[in-house]
Formats: sequence, structure tokens, C-alpha cells
Amino acid sequence: NVLAIVTAFSIALTTPQLYAQTFKMALGDAAGGTQWELGKTFAEKLSDKTGGKAKVDLFPNGQLGTEQDTVNNAAIGLLDFSVLAINNVTPFSPTVGLLTMPYVIQSAEEARLLTQGDIGKELVENTIRDAGVRIVGWAYSGFRVLTNSKRPVKTPEDLKGLVIRVPRNEIMIASYQALGINPTPMAWSETFTGLQQGVVDGQDNPYITISAMKFNEVQKYVTNIRYIFSMEPLIISESVFQDQSPEMQKAILEAGQEATVHSFEFLKDTEDRIKKELVAKGMEIAEPADNEKEWIESVTTVVWPKFYSSIGGKEKLDNALKQLGR
Ligand code: MLT
Repeated sequence: NVLAIVTAFSIALTTPQLYAQTFKMALGDAAGGTQWELGKTFAEKLSDKTGGKAKVDLFPNGQLGTEQDTVNNAAIGLLDFSVLAINNVTPFSPTVGLLTMPYVIQSAEEARLLTQGDIGKELVENTIRDAGVRIVGWAYSGFRVLTNSKRPVKTPEDLKGLVIRVPRNEIMIASYQALGINPTPMAWSETFTGLQQGVVDGQDNPYITISAMKFNEVQKYVTNIRYIFSMEPLIISESVFQDQSPEMQKAILEAGQEATVHSFEFLKDTEDRIKKELVAKGMEIAEPADNEKEWIESVTTVVWPKFYSSIGGKEKLDNALKQLGR
């Protein structure tokens, strides 16, 4: 009967097109950290919004490749989602380097301000254009503090002779060079073993990440520096995103927003407790000498000008500082 066919057809056109599907999400870190918290919350929200049709399986611990590999895999549609440190996106989309310019972001509130406002929107667009991945959420992970297995470090002078692992990220490499050492670039997935075997003496990452990765088992000394506030975007392959129905796209974007809000709260509720736990487990925390003055001066005077062009011009940094009221 023609009427029934027409009715069925119009229902098909107006009913949200949500097909059951399972997405894969890569996480560089172990379960329990800020990446996991964002990914897990996103998966729950997306399931709720789609009446259980969309499922997200999380693969922590770099099971699906190094963080930088996951950007490539998502770009070509081999992977759906990844949560990774922003510094591991920068090699594919240099303007996001703005968010890891040392000593720019000085609090979680400032991190939220930059990622949620116009600057954040522009960086999302740039990342789609340059890297083929879309940022749909953010984990706020705290300042990257310096750890090492050898001795307390309070001044840049104390760093001399230590082999410090950094991600393959030009801004971070240049920062340690400005402090007087040549750091060792190493993939995140190799870092625990590198520290354990003494290939490298130290590294930097937030307290919650240090704890999730059990770095306290192979690192003793912490220096409470504040040079980079770690943010970890949740990215989706842009080609996978474009293949979704408008309803699914909307659900993904909303779930990402809500998981971002949760991540901010998680950091506030968790970081202090984790810090105390790390001390109880034997880590020693030192404050940088002279309120970090020497660190800040050495790094900002050399590193900022070096990267003006890669972040899109000096005015991009000036604009960010202005938005932060400095
Ligand atoms: C790195 O150091 O490569 C990253 O910050 C690790 C992470 O994603 O936590």
C-alpha cells in the first residue's frame, strides 16, 4: 500500500539516523589518569545521548600506538578517537604550540579560558585543516612537573648532567636547551621503560599522570615547576566525524563538551590528593629556587621569539597574554 510506503519513507527522513556502532578510542596513558577520566565520561555521555546506540571502547597504555601515531591513524580514518597530550598534536598542527609556549598559562582557569574561547575555536579549525582531526573535548591535567631519579633539582644549574626525556616537540626541546641541557626526545609509550632502565634520568608530566603511570616507582625527586600546563584534547578523525549523521555529530560534540566540564572538576578534586599520595609513596617535592625566576627568564626570553612564526606570529601570543589579563 502506497500510503504505508510513503509514511515509512517520511519517518525514515525525519527520525534521527542513529545506527548502532562501536568506536575505538586510544589513550596514551594508563587507566586512572585524566585521559581515562575524560574518555570514560565521554563514552558514558555519548551512550546516554544515543540511547545506547553508540559505544566507545577505550584502549589505554598506548595499545593502539604512540600518541603521535594515533594522530596519523585518525587522520587517515584508521582510528576513531584518541586522547593525547596537546604537545603531541603540535608536530602535526604547529599553531597549537601556542598552548605549550612555556610560562604562558599559569592556572587551570587560564587553561580553560584559552581552550574554550575564540583562541580555542581557531585552534580547533587549524587542527582539522592541518592534521585531519577534530578536537571535541579537553582534559585538563595540571602543570607538568619535573621528576628525576638522581637528586633534588632547584635551579637550572642543578639540571646539568641529568638526561631528561621530552616528547618529540620542538618547543619543549628548546625549553630545556634554554635551561642549559640537551634533552632526549622519546615517545611516551617508551618512557616508563626508559626511566626504569636508566636510559634517561628524568621527565616532566603532571602529578596525576605520574601517578597513573606509576613513575614514582622509578623516580624520586620532583621539582614543582609550572612551565607548561598540560592539556589533553580528545580528537576524532575528521573523516569519521564527517561520515556521521547530523544527530550523531551533535551527540559527539555535546558529550565532548560535558566531559570537558567534568575533567576540570576532576582535576580540582584529585590533584592535591594524588600529590600527597606520591609523597607518602616516597617522592620528594622541591620548589624551584627564587620563586622560579631564573627558570622563567631563561626560558621565555629564548623560546618565545623562536616560535612566533610557527604559532602564526607574535600577535597570537600577545593576544593570548592579553586575554589572560597580562
Ligand atoms: C608526553 O609526555 O608525551 C605526554 O605528555 C604524555 C601524556 O599524554 O600524558
